[in-house]
Amino acid sequence: MASRMGLIGCLVVAVALLKCAAATEYQVGDSLGWAVPPNTSYYSTWASTKTFYLGDKFNFSWTGTQNAAPVSKADYENCTQVSSYIGSPFLFTPPSAGSYYFICVVDNNCEQGQKVALTVLAPSSSVEEPAESPESSASSQLTAGALFAALSTAVVSVLTFV
Ligand SMILES: *[C@@H]1O[C@H](CO)[C@@H](O)[C@H](O)[C@H]1NC(C)=O
Ligand SMILES: *[C@@H]1O[C@H](CO)[C@@H](O)[C@H](O)[C@H]1NC(C)=O
Ligand SMILES: *[C@@H]1O[C@H](CO)[C@@H](O)[C@H](O)[C@H]1NC(C)=O
Repeated sequence: MASRMGLIGCLVVAVALLKCAAATEYQVGDSLGWAVPPNTSYYSTWASTKTFYLGDKFNFSWTGTQNAAPVSKADYENCTQVSSYIGSPFLFTPPSAGSYYFICVVDNNCEQGQKVALTVLAPSSSVEEPAESPESSASSQLTAGALFAALSTAVVSVLTFV
């Protein structure tokens, strides 16, 4: 019984790690998209409710007169009207872990809250580092689906012997 619970625990952890490892495409601002938000905390709230990992993508999508300018933290805080910006659609793929800042430099949209800070974390080290046992390292070569199937089969076979 104890080993059965232990293995189920391992399965839960493995699935949680796979979830972390899977790249997510975020729609910046969710249904609002990239626009002048209803209040100045909208995008900081949006970002603070999520954990971003390297490999995730950020879809800045808008209609009408908007843009997205990649800026420094100081320019983000100050809503500096920088001259280089990107047009829609814009799919941002962070090149490395770190913080990235985007503002809209149309009119005073940035002052009205059209600005976002993205903190991108490195993938969990337990996912990146090869596992020590040959069995586990073989598993790491499998796709998420195949690994899940393999783990499910392992649970079923243990349950059969309990
Ligand atoms: C900002 O607007 C969003 C969306 O309308 C709302 O959910 C949130 O509570 C607002 N925040 C503040 C501080 O007013
Ligand atoms: C970005 O989001 C827009 C609006 O939902 C969508 O039409 C577009 O296909 C998305 N782009 C990518 C590359 O996923
Ligand atoms: C912030 O903006 C103000 C007004 O445009 C400017 O005087 C100031 O130098 C800026 N500060 C930074 C750190 O960019």
